[in-house]
Amino acid sequence: MYYSEDLIEEVRMKNDIVDVISGYVRLQKKGSSYFGLCPFHNEKSPSFSVSRSKQMYYCFGCGAGGNVFTFLMEYENLSFVEAVQLLADRAGVELPKMEYSKEAKERADLKTTLLEINKAAAQYFYVQLKSEQGRIGYEYLKKRELSDETIKAFGLGYSNKYSDDLYRYLRSKGYSEDLIRQAGLISTDEKHGVYDKFWNRVMFPIMDVNSRVIGFGGRVMGEAKPKYLNSPETPVFDKSRNLYGLNRARSSRKPYFLLCEGYMDVIALHQAGFTNAVASLGTALTPGHASLIKRYVREVYLTYDSDEAGTRAALRGVPILKDAGISAKVIRMDPYKDPDEFIKNLGAEEFERRIADARNGFLFSLEILERDYDMNSPEGKTAFFREAARRLIGFEDELERNNYIEAVAKIYQISAESLKKLVTKTAIQDGLAKPVERPKSTSEQKTAKKEDAGKTAQKVLLTWMIEEPKLFQVIGKYIHPDDFTEELFRTVAELMYRQYEQGELNPAKILNHFTEEEEHREAASLFHTKIRELSTKGEREQALKETILRVKSNSIDAQTRKLSPTDMAGLQKLMEEKRKLQDLYQLHISLE
Ligand code: GTP
Ligand code: MN
Repeated sequence: MYYSEDLIEEVRMKNDIVDVISGYVRLQKKGSSYFGLCPFHNEKSPSFSVSRSKQMYYCFGCGAGGNVFTFLMEYENLSFVEAVQLLADRAGVELPKMEYSKEAKERADLKTTLLEINKAAAQYFYVQLKSEQGRIGYEYLKKRELSDETIKAFGLGYSNKYSDDLYRYLRSKGYSEDLIRQAGLISTDEKHGVYDKFWNRVMFPIMDVNSRVIGFGGRVMGEAKPKYLNSPETPVFDKSRNLYGLNRARSSRKPYFLLCEGYMDVIALHQAGFTNAVASLGTALTPGHASLIKRYVREVYLTYDSDEAGTRAALRGVPILKDAGISAKVIRMDPYKDPDEFIKNLGAEEFERRIADARNGFLFSLEILERDYDMNSPEGKTAFFREAARRLIGFEDELERNNYIEAVAKIYQISAESLKKLVTKTAIQDGLAKPVERPKSTSEQKTAKKEDAGKTAQKVLLTWMIEEPKLFQVIGKYIHPDDFTEELFRTVAELMYRQYEQGELNPAKILNHFTEEEEHREAASLFHTKIRELSTKGEREQALKETILRVKSNSIDAQTRKLSPTDMAGLQKLMEEKRKLQDLYQLHISLE
């Protein structure tokens, strides 16, 4: 833990969750809660709720939930400590210099230093571009019709023709050779010694969502190869989780992003007023990119190059986006190669028209598929429709699938009824053709199931106690924190029991305790495990009793497994526990 729990709690209390989330999501008061469109999944009617009394949020649609720190971690992609720092800043709480563990300090220090080095390098490149030595770079950018404003906004720069001037500059600022190497800015070989990775290139600093420089792309001026040189992956540069231009596009206020292939495309689009353009960093679109995009928008217009490679990239991108719940459309760029050239030749207005005319991603993929079939022969056509049917099965939602079936039928002028029949038939055939999964051995299955049931019961019980604190009186009689065999659950239970004794149940505070991202998420999920709707008191009492029994017997099983055969006292205690468990079966638990 970096900061004391008291301090973290102070920061949390001084940042009302409704106020903070209102800065990101439009919320409306309904009853005792606030509702809005969930920023973590695609939806049209609000199922995202924020409770001022509990200081927690929860989405009934996708299950996202937690306290104010969780929200910032999820929305802004921050670590727990970063979320605390941001909110401390917001509320004017002064944080002490952090007391790091040695390892954490080294890790955090390394990242901070690498970011510093990158920033210094970006500034250096920018100064070079604006100086006499950099004239060639500046003229190149001017030839590509970039304004001074754009150059400044994107922090474009120039790396000199000297082989090690950046290295010497950074050394003079006190950074070690090792750190500069870890930032990916230098290489070494036996003949030349240390030399700059980038030289005689125009430089594109790559920034994360928070506008911190995490890497560089450098373009040759002219036709030499490689055309672009990019920073290697470093502790601060993960290509599959960052998008070029996102730091600006995130505040564009458009409900969709324009996703393109190149740095120059993003810049040209922004300059032409399309400030919602982003690009993946010289790599294919990954699920990581898609989930990053989904934090901001639910719709993406692909403006990939109109060549073969661009078309293939678009075809690969559409299903990745769809899996993340983002709908994709494809913009036609012909007769130009990419958005940059398109804008230069036909202008922003024409591009706007192309956006309006963008084709649905799925229908686009069928259009490309057509090329593989001889659509003039009956056999070719039939084979094409079979494949189309196979792809239509991919829409799990029936309404959506039917809409697509109708759209496809209309475009290809066949009857929607017969296409629907073909889809059903194909689904059945494919289903039958699927290899049957071999069942695991039954005893193995049984243990796994039992463990799962034990874990679920613990989770349900905790959730129940959080939702209805008065159950403590009942549950506390039978269940102790030690009965939670999952370490994380036990910690939550200990904190809750302590709070209960002190007369203040406060789930939002409990979450402060979990500072590692993974743990924090899992703990947050505890606070909104779905519990079956139980209508009558009798049903609820029965369910509660079953859950208590399951948690208790799971706990006894675990203790039994751990018990050494010579531990007589332990054995006696267990026997006693088992007897009590028997009693419990007979007991009537009352929810009065
Ligand atoms: P220009 O308009 O010619 O400056 O480039 P562009 O932005 O249109 O890029 P292009 O369509 O040629 O390539 C798309 C993206 O792929 C670029 O922005 C780079 O990120 C990446 N890329 C292109 N060429 C290379 C290369 O030679 N090496 C590497 N590593 N990446 C490249
Ligand atoms: Mn280009």
